[in-house]
Amino acid sequence: MKFYKKEGNTAHVIAFPDEEAERGDYLLIEDRESGRGLIAQVIDVQFVNLPGILEDLLRDTMTAGSVEGEDEDPFGVSSQVAYLKDARLLVCKIRGAIEGGRLLAHAPWLPSRIGSIVRRISIEELLCDGDPKRPIRLGRTKSGKGVVIDAKGLDGKLNIIMGRKGTGKSHFSKLLLLNLVKYGAPCLVFDINGEYVNLGRDWDGRPNEFGDRIMVLRPGAQRFDVRSVGLRAMMDILLHALDLPPTSAKVFASMWKELAARDALSLGSIGTAIQCWSCHESVREALASRYHSLVESGVFGDEGCMDFGEIAKWLGDGNAVVVNMRNKSSLSRRIIVELFLGKLTELLSAGALRAVFLFAEEAHLYLGDTYWDDVVTRMRHLGIFATFITNQPETIREGIYRQADNIFLFNFANDHDLEFVSKTAKLDADSVKLLVSGLPERHCLTIGEAVRNFPLIFEVERLSADTLGQTRYFFND
Ligand SMILES: Nc1ncnc2c1ncn2[C@@H]1O[C@H](COP(=O)(O)OP(=O)(O)OP(=O)(O)O)[C@@H](O)[C@H]1O
Ligand SMILES: [Mg+2]
Repeated sequence: MKFYKKEGNTAHVIAFPDEEAERGDYLLIEDRESGRGLIAQVIDVQFVNLPGILEDLLRDTMTAGSVEGEDEDPFGVSSQVAYLKDARLLVCKIRGAIEGGRLLAHAPWLPSRIGSIVRRISIEELLCDGDPKRPIRLGRTKSGKGVVIDAKGLDGKLNIIMGRKGTGKSHFSKLLLLNLVKYGAPCLVFDINGEYVNLGRDWDGRPNEFGDRIMVLRPGAQRFDVRSVGLRAMMDILLHALDLPPTSAKVFASMWKELAARDALSLGSIGTAIQCWSCHESVREALASRYHSLVESGVFGDEGCMDFGEIAKWLGDGNAVVVNMRNKSSLSRRIIVELFLGKLTELLSAGALRAVFLFAEEAHLYLGDTYWDDVVTRMRHLGIFATFITNQPETIREGIYRQADNIFLFNFANDHDLEFVSKTAKLDADSVKLLVSGLPERHCLTIGEAVRNFPLIFEVERLSADTLGQTRYFFND
């Protein structure tokens, strides 16, 4: 391969037909004299545009088979010409440099054109310094090398997993989840499709190493005691999930305090109090309709209920909670999410929990507008580290993308989606469009700190755990 030119952070390299290079590969353009080199990633493979090549190709096609006789090639140049016709131009983006064996993010110098040698390198080997303390194997690159990151690369981070339907996003999120649980990280999943519920067993149905580390909650089947929910979380639900006007919320708070003082707090007693409390009829109506939604959601109850203390302990011991919201109405989902986020915030502020890794699939379906910023700023400071998973990139606001530390991109074929994703990912638009549109299923382009800002394509690892959950099929073979 030959280093041809560099403009800005784009480098062009010429590759001959016997030299393999594909989109996503990394090249080292090494200056032999100084021993330092540029690290460039191939984002497109084109033919070298030689003068007269079109005419030559046309002539070849026109004369093929129609001219009789033997080819005369006294100087033996035809094979060289064919070789040149197949030469390829590798359009690359410079991602960093190597100097004295160290990886650098930028290089202010330009390697020599004549004195440089260009070769393919395995960037995945450079990503982990030494042996990672808590290795997570994400998958393997085309060359068969394992992509291993340190779980620390996900700690305190905001991650986004995006891609077209069915490309393997949820599978990847399950892989991250199980690996975090393996290292004792508390995890909570908002599972909208009930597909994380079987992670504790293998495909053959036998419990696996996570069998006793994953608690599946199905609000409705399990109810929460209003006393353990507490006034603060209940007010959040009323104000944010059920849009109760603040004046009515004040009345509700007084009612709650009065019932609590008499030690008579229960779901039933709240209902009775709403009917009897002396307040304006419009307030009573507002409270009654919200109360009805609370009861309808099936999330709250009085007897045989779960206590948040149990969940806090479970999480604190380094386990996972899957909140199964399959078949829940959108209002119920918002109540559930508000409840869990409210309680998590309380537990984290009180120091009862150190941190929680939150996995949220299609979060726009249950996360109110005001919550996005909250989750990524305020709650992040408290210790909620979110991973958002979506196949509709537009449902995540641009501000969130800007704060994301890691973006895991699966295939997008649609131009509109690609355009949007290329604007938001922390990578130049050309790289995103060219690399992502060519990704096969189950392959992912990772951008961000987990891969030390060297965008990397790999095939995601398989899992032995049952990742299908409750997916229903008609043809079962
Ligand atoms: N790396 C992988 N190895 C083996 N199977 C995989 C892998 N990735 C995905 N799958 C399988 O492919 C199917 C689709 O994957 P998945 O459900 O993760 O896609 P998705 O992108 O989340 O789709 P959707 O947009 O519908 O939620 C699943 O049956 C899953 O088990
Ligand atoms: Mg999915």
